[in-house]
Amino acid sequence: MKFDTPATTNPIDQLKVIGRPHDRIDGPLKTSGRAPYAYERHDVIPNQAYGFIVGAAIATGRITRIDTAAALAAPGVLAVVTHENAGKLGKAEAITAHLLGGPLVEHYDQAIAVVVAESFEQARAAAKLVRVDYARGNGAYDLAEAKASAIKPKDGWGGPSDTAVGDFPGAFGKAAVKLDATYTTPDQCHSSMEPHASIAAWDGNKLTLWTSNQMIAWAVRDLSETLLIPKEDIHVMSPFIGGGFGSKLWIRSDAVLAALGARAAGRPVKLALARPQMFNNTTHRPATIQRIRIGATRKGKITAIGHESWSGDLPGGGPETAVNQTRLLYAGANRMTATRLAVLDLPEGNAMRAPGEAPGLMALEIAMDEMAEKLRLDPVEFRILNDTQVDPENPGTPFSHRDLIGCLRTGAERFGWDKRNPKPAQVSDGRWLVGMGMAAAFRGNLTTTSGARVGIDRKGVVTVATDMTDIGTGSYTIIAQTAAEMMGVPIDKVVVLLGDSSFPVSAGSGGQWGANSSTAGVYAACHALRTAIARKLGMDPDTAIFADGKIKSGKRSVSLAEAAGDAGLSAEDSIEFGDLAKTYAQATFGAHFAEVGVDRATGEIRIRRMSGAFAAGRILNPKSARSQVIGAMTMGAGAALMEEAVVDPRFGYFVNHDLAGYEVPVHADIPHQDVFFMDEVDDKSSPMKAKGVGELGICGVAAAIANATYNACGVRVRDYPVTLDKVI
Ligand code: MOS
Repeated sequence: MKFDTPATTNPIDQLKVIGRPHDRIDGPLKTSGRAPYAYERHDVIPNQAYGFIVGAAIATGRITRIDTAAALAAPGVLAVVTHENAGKLGKAEAITAHLLGGPLVEHYDQAIAVVVAESFEQARAAAKLVRVDYARGNGAYDLAEAKASAIKPKDGWGGPSDTAVGDFPGAFGKAAVKLDATYTTPDQCHSSMEPHASIAAWDGNKLTLWTSNQMIAWAVRDLSETLLIPKEDIHVMSPFIGGGFGSKLWIRSDAVLAALGARAAGRPVKLALARPQMFNNTTHRPATIQRIRIGATRKGKITAIGHESWSGDLPGGGPETAVNQTRLLYAGANRMTATRLAVLDLPEGNAMRAPGEAPGLMALEIAMDEMAEKLRLDPVEFRILNDTQVDPENPGTPFSHRDLIGCLRTGAERFGWDKRNPKPAQVSDGRWLVGMGMAAAFRGNLTTTSGARVGIDRKGVVTVATDMTDIGTGSYTIIAQTAAEMMGVPIDKVVVLLGDSSFPVSAGSGGQWGANSSTAGVYAACHALRTAIARKLGMDPDTAIFADGKIKSGKRSVSLAEAAGDAGLSAEDSIEFGDLAKTYAQATFGAHFAEVGVDRATGEIRIRRMSGAFAAGRILNPKSARSQVIGAMTMGAGAALMEEAVVDPRFGYFVNHDLAGYEVPVHADIPHQDVFFMDEVDDKSSPMKAKGVGELGICGVAAAIANATYNACGVRVRDYPVTLDKVI
């Protein structure tokens, strides 16, 4: 089904099932420990051996000798695979560093060997016996140092590297009120609960892989490019995933080395990255340095806005696109954005929840707070004053739907923003200095082709199969809701099968495109099934009504079970997005508010309240959408106050590579979170009229907390995380 004209009224609009706060249909399986995660498939494949990865002990250089004799002689060891005996491998185009390194070492803890043994303990013990000699090279590990050598990268999927409209330098120079400030965000790690894990089994030349992955079709493609076997010979399954946040958009070393280990050992191999391996072996959100310049009239109209961002990555990698939101969020006739990329020999930088906007808004929304203060304007009013209903870089392109102002006003009212004292360090509560801050939220709305197969059986049960994934986001549930609404059955008559490369290719889970795109694909497949059922019965598919488990046309009413017959009926289709994504700027919006306390003696910062209002099209399930947003707000609180992967500039690795050293928020750090969704639909986004919220929720949170900290204690911190040493 092609989606190239705005959606009209359709069966989804009935809102009998969609739009309702259904509990997660996978919830009981998950909470009772019966949801089979990749590492736990003891049931499906016997005779599993265990793999353990050996990581490089240098960040840059070469392996001069690798001696596996002692490891091979250790108890229980079945095989050791290194670059010397792995056979010919390719490199997946989409992955920057080799997933099996050697002799060249591209980053610290890059996988250079896998030991396969009868037990996990034997594999781990033998991994320590692999002797490696290195010739250490000199790498670049410090962004501030490498910044001077940064270059303009090629345009990527985040858009062009640079943009310019009007005369930015002239307008900024002449502006009555101006700000020129630089902000920094650190390297951050995804830290999903479930580590990267895979079980690989070969049947001749055919590979079956149970893994934890957000994008099944990409996994098949990248395995094919790495192992140099046809895609048709690869079967990937990832039905349950314990968090990804972007770290599982692409396969990692666990998948490739489980496959290589299994081939070498002649046994199925299961392999999980240990928690400390997740930090240096996989990907992370790259650190940024961001310079923001804003010029405005005395009344607060922005006349010039400029945003430059520097980040680093391995050779061949890409930039953190932190300027993205600045292209679209505020009006202003004269503008420039520039993205610069330095070579850094740290582990691969890549997407982490809202890549681009999450760190970009951490900087931009402090800058907006600083400007509001210079202008003596309320920060909410300053943003409203500079709202735009068209893409400010392409004024001929309107937004499909944009309610930033609604979010700002509603959020301010729910939070009690009018009680804020604009002068910093004026309010106290015992030993706490108390402050309020806010920030706008923005995240692009991407749409992408998504397919599904839907069948109905003789019991009237609807089964949906698609390679869509549920990374803890609620995909199972909103897909079931979509099929139930379309087919006119209760949700408990729908079975959803996900995360299997033998199912139709979906949008997958990434970039907050999953909810809207994957349900739109299910909508298309259900539309095809409705047509097939009606035609079989000689009814007009356009006027037939699907309700109460029946199809009705005129006076005729037939149960779906009967219509399906013994053989059942099924249909497959996909949603293809046309030009609406180009003729309209599509994005999601919100406003975050936070109240913090700063201990006047120690500088300890505590969040006391958080509140947000969001405009993201139709909310398919208010309960799971709220769960996404409170999770994202929590992650934003981590970005504001705690998270920092600390680089050792001598050896080029992240020092704090576990959850003791890499701090993330715990329950005691997070107060009640108020989440409000604006009542809206976006007919340009898809037949579902929905968008995404999973990434929107993290965008802007950290700046709201940083701004609240400033309001509390009067110290402006422009270097994340905002920790007590920086406010004392
Ligand atoms: Mo998201 S960082 O595209 O999984």
